[in-house]
Amino acid sequence: MKLLFEGIDEPRLNTLEVYERRGGYQALRKALAMTPEEVLSNISASEIRGRGGAGFQMGKKASFLPHGHMDKYLVCNADESEPGTFKDREIMQKNPHMLVEGIAIATYAAEINRAFIYIRGEYELQADILEAAIAEALEAGYIGERVLGSAHTFSLVLHRGAGAYICGEETGMLDSLEGKRGNPRLKPPFPAIEGLYHGPTLINNVETLATVPTIIRMGGEDYAKLGAQGSTGTKLVSVSGDVQRPGNYEIELGVPSREIIYGLAGGPPEGREVKFWFPGGSSAPVLTKDDLDIPYDFDSMAKAGSMLGSGAIIVVDDSHTVLEVAKKVAKFYAHESCGKCVPCREGTNWTVKMLERISSGEATPMDLDIMASVQEQIIGNCLCVLGDAMAMPIGSMVEKFRDELEAEIEAARERAGAGALEDVIPIGVADEQAGPLPVH
Ligand SMILES: Cc1cc2nc3c(=O)[nH]c(=O)nc-3n(C[C@H](O)[C@H](O)[C@H](O)COP(=O)(O)O)c2cc1C
Repeated sequence: MKLLFEGIDEPRLNTLEVYERRGGYQALRKALAMTPEEVLSNISASEIRGRGGAGFQMGKKASFLPHGHMDKYLVCNADESEPGTFKDREIMQKNPHMLVEGIAIATYAAEINRAFIYIRGEYELQADILEAAIAEALEAGYIGERVLGSAHTFSLVLHRGAGAYICGEETGMLDSLEGKRGNPRLKPPFPAIEGLYHGPTLINNVETLATVPTIIRMGGEDYAKLGAQGSTGTKLVSVSGDVQRPGNYEIELGVPSREIIYGLAGGPPEGREVKFWFPGGSSAPVLTKDDLDIPYDFDSMAKAGSMLGSGAIIVVDDSHTVLEVAKKVAKFYAHESCGKCVPCREGTNWTVKMLERISSGEATPMDLDIMASVQEQIIGNCLCVLGDAMAMPIGSMVEKFRDELEAEIEAARERAGAGALEDVIPIGVADEQAGPLPVH
């Protein structure tokens, strides 16, 4: 079923002319004929969960904002920096008016007068296309003073980021928008109560907002009939890594993961098989080939010990070592850690060092225990979940591929001439042999 990607490859869909010809902005007209409360209750009834990572229900989040007219803001998260995720890019590049229409409806529902799109710096082409679409929508009266003659007025500004993963974290993004260094804020207060310029702020991902016109067109309750229990609707999935047909696919939530990886993306290259896969971007704990029949939805992924996250499936086949992938993942998060909180700043860096010790033949299996314990100390102890985003996949790799990592440790020690493992004295025993510490 295609809702977001219906007609996505139609030439010039990015122009107002083609978008309107296909029924574009009719959902906004329908919404403006309702009260803001009615529009919000349709969004709530759809039960749509955020498509940016955390999977929080959009209707609930919007209802946390105080009612009435005051300085409230909407920020659309178009930072799309999670490795493996490239679905928002396709929406913005091919169908930017769908996003603009979704923002127009969401601002009306939450009685917001100022909206921003925060787009990652590298998306220059998509930013140019969006800017042109915003100008067209403004000219046509879909944005600005008294939208389509109604009482709703709102402005929409596109803001280009400078290529920092942390600015995708919602409060880091707010600081960056305010002109500061993009660092996460301590929560609470949550942005719905105190966000941009201290005002109540609704933050949603591109795909979440781009789905709003469909919800209004279908009606919230009908939308909720699509997908699975607790994971309504369709979802764009970015599939990459070792598959024959990488790309973005729209699926109904709840389909077996195998159908996405093999059916749509063609599975790994001939002669190879799935070794493990990240179901929701590189920050999701990895699943193995035994998990391919798990339904692809928020709750089933959580039950399997992972997460749906941004909906980015990265497939790793049996031609790769776990160590190689673990190092790539850890290095990314260590590089992107903003350094504001200790567990993330130190934990990500130490994890990289520990993985490098394995490659250089300096590690023993005890390093795997230490590494697993470091990951446990990071999870839940950081200012934002960037630290967890490294700790969760690394922890899962150590747990699920311990035998392979131990074999890697032994092989690397042999290559480095570091001596056989049976000659290594475990730390506790070494302490006993050394006797008590000298007293000076
Ligand atoms: C380090 C980090 C990076 C994030 N990057 C993004 C991102 O690029 N795009 C996005 O939509 N959400 C990202 N998020 C999630 C946002 O903080 C936020 O939950 C989301 O924008 C809310 O929108 P949604 O409810 O529509 O999903 C990130 C979170 C963290 C912790």
